[in-house]
Amino acid sequence: MIRLPLAVFLQGSVTHEYNVLFWVIVSICVFVAGGIATVLIYSAWHFRRRDPNELPPQIRMKLSAELTWIILPSIIFVAMFAYGSKLYFDIERPPDDAEDVYVVAKQWMWKMQHLGGQREINTLHVPVGRAIRLNMISEDVIHSFFVPAFRIKQDVLPGRYTTIWFKAVLPGTYHLFCAEYCGTDHSQMIGWVYAMEPKDYQLWLEQGGAEGSLASTGEKYFHQFGCADCHHFDGHGPGPSLIGLYRHPVQTETGQVVIADESYIRNKILNPSRRVPQGFKAIMPTFKGQLSEDEITALIAYIKAIGPRPGSQLPSGPGEELGDYGGVSPDISEPPTPPVKQSNPGGVR
Ligand code: CUA
Repeated sequence: MIRLPLAVFLQGSVTHEYNVLFWVIVSICVFVAGGIATVLIYSAWHFRRRDPNELPPQIRMKLSAELTWIILPSIIFVAMFAYGSKLYFDIERPPDDAEDVYVVAKQWMWKMQHLGGQREINTLHVPVGRAIRLNMISEDVIHSFFVPAFRIKQDVLPGRYTTIWFKAVLPGTYHLFCAEYCGTDHSQMIGWVYAMEPKDYQLWLEQGGAEGSLASTGEKYFHQFGCADCHHFDGHGPGPSLIGLYRHPVQTETGQVVIADESYIRNKILNPSRRVPQGFKAIMPTFKGQLSEDEITALIAYIKAIGPRPGSQLPSGPGEELGDYGGVSPDISEPPTPPVKQSNPGGVR
């Protein structure tokens, strides 16, 4: 069933709050504009000049009135700002248990890839009731991922990951648009989001025709492109071990500490001489121009999948969630075998 944006008042998690904020602001604006217009028209008529020599009475400032129209609107505006800010932070920060989906935009299509390796073009299948985090990048120009029913819109940029998240509440089919003019067929760069019951989604994943998970594809590239030659898992290679790298703080040679998120890992593959981890030499060659965004995505998925750092007790709290693979961490005393052959690749229950 196709659901139109206006017919889905209770879609998604932030969607409802977004609607509330929108209608509250619209109502206040209509009320204030209507009130001002009414008083203006009434006053123009009621206090009109009745005699050519008439002198208007001098009206002195009334403190209570002044204070009222300063304080009352201030409270209303600050409340709008506070609620809007809260919503902004909610939209910017995906829940920790969000499921990752990778999106590559190009002229003129959307390529989606699930952790289980399922690929789709211009469609996106998601389970209802689960937060979905989209990691998006463009292969060419700026696009914008826009699903009006979920009230989400995010620019998709070349050379940089952007993310957005949503949680579908009702099963249905929702329109997906590109909302940034990106060339001749911009208007054709549309698609559908299919929100399904979790069991239907599971079925869809199984029938998705994936040849191994995204991480297992990444593992293949890891060897094919020679990453494994330097990044030994025991940490004795010329490059740092990548076990547990994902979302872990990395100290660079300048003493700066950065969190190894998707963007950091991508930058290290393409610009390895920048922000070299402390204790290592800038000997890694750049892979700029040699890897497609899809290949980089798979490599990142692999690095994400290779478990915690040996000997470190990673908190399983916010920001350290490694549960994309059903919470399985490989045995850290062994060179890790990524948990790629699980029957439940997307961590979907
Ligand atoms: Cu892509 Cu407009």
